[in-house]
Amino acid sequence: MATALKPRTPPPADQSKVLDRVLVLEMVRVTEYAAIAASRWIGRGDEKAADQAAVSAMRDALNRLAFDGTVVIGEGERDEAPMLYIGEKVGTGEGPKIDIALDPLEGTTITAKAGPNAMAVLAIAEEGGLLNAPDVYMDKLAIGPGYPEGLVSLERTPTENIEALAAAKGVAPNEIIACVLDRPRHEALIRELRAIGCGIHLIGDGDVAGVIAVTDPETTIDVYMGSGGAPEGVLAAAALRCVGGQFQGRLLFRNDDERARARRIGITDLDRIYELHDLARGDVIFAATGVTDGSLLRGVKRLRTGRITTESVVMRASSGTIRWVRGDRNGDPPPLR
Ligand code: FBP
Repeated sequence: MATALKPRTPPPADQSKVLDRVLVLEMVRVTEYAAIAASRWIGRGDEKAADQAAVSAMRDALNRLAFDGTVVIGEGERDEAPMLYIGEKVGTGEGPKIDIALDPLEGTTITAKAGPNAMAVLAIAEEGGLLNAPDVYMDKLAIGPGYPEGLVSLERTPTENIEALAAAKGVAPNEIIACVLDRPRHEALIRELRAIGCGIHLIGDGDVAGVIAVTDPETTIDVYMGSGGAPEGVLAAAALRCVGGQFQGRLLFRNDDERARARRIGITDLDRIYELHDLARGDVIFAATGVTDGSLLRGVKRLRTGRITTESVVMRASSGTIRWVRGDRNGDPPPLR
């Protein structure tokens, strides 16, 4: 477990009146429920069942809360996802209007194979505060807090970025460690990083945790590079809004259908480089509960005694507060209908 995330200082003054502070702790309950439901499927080789269990539990938990929520990043478009689809209304409908980005199970394959870093994740913001990102790839670049703004950029080559980062850190480029998703599409990137001697921490899945890892010195990861899901990019950006660090994202389109999908949800500049504040604006709350053990969180443990333990983190951008929440409950939570 790595708990070295440091709150940002100084916190901005623009505390939202819409995101009531009570919601901060309620969010943990939501991610806990999803993680516990998914945990029954750890190592069972069934990605779909694990995802479905998490989705259904997260939806039930959200629907108990007194707000007028809209899913802006969810399980897909309405015709392809029966639950938590983009545009679905959640909550009781009474109370503040909030936008929600969620991934009930970030790391379905990880869960099926009992690998590291699967989590239940969500972020909430005032209406309009989260980029409504299409389900396409996003090129991502992230570094931790404490570096000059604009030190790295998607407009520069990976080599240029590593050299700039190394100079700012006061080390040689071969002492920089980059986290990259282990995918054939990253072959050229990996080759380029290896050519300058950069250490590469390859991950099989789970780039939300991969991006957040750059903010925690204990992981020793300096930079996150490469492409992954755009929805996961918004979730990671929401977390970085709370803990600090820099992030850039650029949508990547493989065909006209993906471009059309982006245009349908109002994206006009398809080449735009998104900064942190373009992805998650204003006051933002980010919550995650570990499903399997990872760099950020311990996973759900189902003990022989019947008790279930969880570890979660919840953070808020406006206050810069980070809370680590350890749960210990007597068995599975009852259904929330
Ligand atoms: P799922 O939980 O939806 O399987 O996503 C896991 C993940 O590794 C994400 O963290 C990442 O953004 C995305 O998949 C990368 O996509 P791909 O597997 O197509 O490279």
